[in-house]
Amino acid sequence: MTTNTNANTANTALQSVIWSEDRLDLLDQRLLPEEIVYLPLTTSEDVWEAIRHLKVRGAPAIGISAAYGVVLGSRDADSIASWIAAVNKEAEYLATSRPTAVNLFWALDRMKAAAAGFADQGLSLEACKEALLTEAITIQSEDEETNRLIGEHALSLFKNDMGVLTHCNAGGLATAKYGTALAPFYLALEKGITLRVFADETRPVLQGARLTAFELQQAGVDVTLICDNMAGMVMAKGWVDAVIVGTDRVAANGDVANKIGTYSVAVLAKAHGIPFYVACPLSTIDLNTPTGAEIPIEERNPEEITEGFGKRTAPKGVKVYNPAFDVTPNEYVTAIITEKGIVQAPYSDNLRKLFE
Ligand code: MRU
Repeated sequence: MTTNTNANTANTALQSVIWSEDRLDLLDQRLLPEEIVYLPLTTSEDVWEAIRHLKVRGAPAIGISAAYGVVLGSRDADSIASWIAAVNKEAEYLATSRPTAVNLFWALDRMKAAAAGFADQGLSLEACKEALLTEAITIQSEDEETNRLIGEHALSLFKNDMGVLTHCNAGGLATAKYGTALAPFYLALEKGITLRVFADETRPVLQGARLTAFELQQAGVDVTLICDNMAGMVMAKGWVDAVIVGTDRVAANGDVANKIGTYSVAVLAKAHGIPFYVACPLSTIDLNTPTGAEIPIEERNPEEITEGFGKRTAPKGVKVYNPAFDVTPNEYVTAIITEKGIVQAPYSDNLRKLFE
């Protein structure tokens, strides 16, 4: 295992996003679990590239990184007017890095509104820049507290010795800390509750195998890695009492976009009478997107499928379809677990109430 000692390299509870005085240190998640390397980023272009190429990934971590990207991209402005223009321009630019996780747009909107507010208060240019950095740090620290609350609510649904299946990585690596779907497993550890986790490996880029299995194993959670196509068999054996996943965007009607393969897991869960839970912060709920049909679904390079294992595993020239996310219709979702509590159908009414 290679480590870069520039930043936090503890094996447990690795932080994926670290602000270090005047730069952003990002854990390069493409290299996990083999190498722990923090990339020192100093420009918004660095951050855009890191998001696009999955060096940082997971909806909340993308939003947090982009917030710091706005700070990096606007810090050389020499007047309030040019600073505001730079903040808005950088936010627009960073918004083009990936399309599905609404936390990205939520964080960028929050940074733009904060900057406008600081300028309206008549702060000096230096004070404005400092306050905007504090806003990004606050987005990150709030995420940690939010996830702890999500974990507490989710854990209330689980009992000692239950088997719980998860897909992709909605853990500490995807957030400021704890994760969303993985938060209850960390809190269960703290409380001496045993949960047996099944982690889908999550093709094509293996966030389940490389990241979820890694971070849970490092923490001492009982985790078993399975290939995606084993979930049905594991459920049929009676080993899974619940499914919990994260999400990149929840539409106003409760349709849920998450890593490709989530929909199949939800259908399997329903067929086996297993509850299917989605864990997310309010910043992932998008009341402006009416249904899952309107959620933009990212398509990624064919090479993720044809050469994902470091060598070619498909014939050259074969047609490939590689959507990064799918949409699980709300009727498959037993409950959505947020920092404000557990929400059930009818989602159109009950999600809206969360924001009242
Ligand atoms: O493509 P990724 O790795 O960014 O996809 C991540 C997911 O699908 C997560 O489940 C989701 O962002 C929630 S992270 C708390």
